[in-house]
Amino acid sequence: MSAHPLSHTHRSTEGNGEREGKLVGGNRGDGGGGGGGKNVVEKRCGKGLECVYIYHYATPGCNKQNSTFCSFNFELKILVPFEREKKKEKRKKLTMQMAAVTVIIVLILTLEASTTTLAARNALAENKTCYGDGTGGSTGISLSFDIYLMTCPQAEDIVRSGVEQAVASDPRMAASLLRLHFHDCFVNGCDGSVLLDDNANFVGEKTAGPNLNSLRGFEVIDSIKSELEQACPQTVSCADILAIAARDSVLLSGGPTWQVETGRTDSRGASLTKANNNLPAPTSNVPTLIQKFQNLGLSAQDMVVLSGAHTIGKARCSSFSSRLNSMGDLEFIQSLQQLCSGSNGTLAHLDLSTPATFDNQYYINLLSGDGLLPSDQVLAGGPSGVLDLVQAYATDQSLFFEDFATSVIRMGRLTSTTGTAGEVRKNCRVVN
Ligand code: HEM
Repeated sequence: MSAHPLSHTHRSTEGNGEREGKLVGGNRGDGGGGGGGKNVVEKRCGKGLECVYIYHYATPGCNKQNSTFCSFNFELKILVPFEREKKKEKRKKLTMQMAAVTVIIVLILTLEASTTTLAARNALAENKTCYGDGTGGSTGISLSFDIYLMTCPQAEDIVRSGVEQAVASDPRMAASLLRLHFHDCFVNGCDGSVLLDDNANFVGEKTAGPNLNSLRGFEVIDSIKSELEQACPQTVSCADILAIAARDSVLLSGGPTWQVETGRTDSRGASLTKANNNLPAPTSNVPTLIQKFQNLGLSAQDMVVLSGAHTIGKARCSSFSSRLNSMGDLEFIQSLQQLCSGSNGTLAHLDLSTPATFDNQYYINLLSGDGLLPSDQVLAGGPSGVLDLVQAYATDQSLFFEDFATSVIRMGRLTSTTGTAGEVRKNCRVVN
């Protein structure tokens, strides 16, 4: 169908879009007829979205046959699709822009969130606020790694070489220094209170039942402290010296190592009462042992794994007298009876097999009934969770090492609840 030379175009705003129509000439006597109106007779769509509709139009009531004015074809170009397409394109663009903006926002938020999580994790890993002994508020001391890096970079070296010298001349000293840290932390937190001497006006913790004639290593700490005072006066606290010395003692004995959190301050007081009450007795049963740890915010697992410290060191017969009449490994019990037949103060190895090596032998001993202290042996007959741990540590030394390091760090975070500000003592035995 060819375009009529007289064709003209008209526009319509009908509908959403724009239409362009033109007469394309040629009467169509064969269709439409006298009824009038228009009928689509052909629809042609190009490659794009434009379609051309050819209508046959018949003028109502026209009786002139073959008259151009009676009947003609009308071509309607539909431009609407283009407009729609344009709008669609615009919408698509907008949607894409929105999507891009959303993605950017999500990315920023995710990044921010992960930075916050990381910061929180770092805070957990590196900057610990201490927790208390469950009896009240906390001084909120913040511990961190390398606190002496700027103020006393040689601090850890001085402690280590002091521990090395002491252990070289007395192998048991490693055990004694580790125990000092434990007895310090369990009374008003790790604040060096255990090191304070009694005097006319002051009662310290040294005469408490668990400490008297038992705790050792005070001279070693004195000597390390005096070296530190020369190198960096009043900088390194006695409580931190105990924490570092405990770590070095374990490592020197063949055990695990860990990074010591530092920044503790030394107390200006002590508590004989708490030393008597907080420290567990060797005659304690499992629930009591757990309770003593839980009172300070430590767990049953902390108790089981920290008891593994008894893989080194010695105990007096008076500490395990009830074992002498107990059931279990008969040969072991008889050897203890023989050892303790003389004096109550005689010493026995806490770990009969490898007494000076920090290993998991302590747990193996418990399973064969060879735990020295009653409080040790009860763990093997304890509630299933406790026994499970004993078995796990007996079979997996690296698990024991890993958990020991974790728990000793947790113990090292125990802080004073007295709320009084601490100090860095010049002499660990007296307040400044
Ligand atoms: C679970 C409760 C605990 C009880 C009932 C307990 C009890 C004892 C007793 C009675 C002694 C022997 C003291 C003597 O006869 O003079 C001792 C020694 C020792 N304790 Fe514990 N202790 C416990 C936990 C700990 C913890 C948590 C550690 C360290 C992280 C530790 C480290 C030591 C060491 C290394 C020795 C040997 C010290 C030396 O040879 O000088 N103990 N303990």
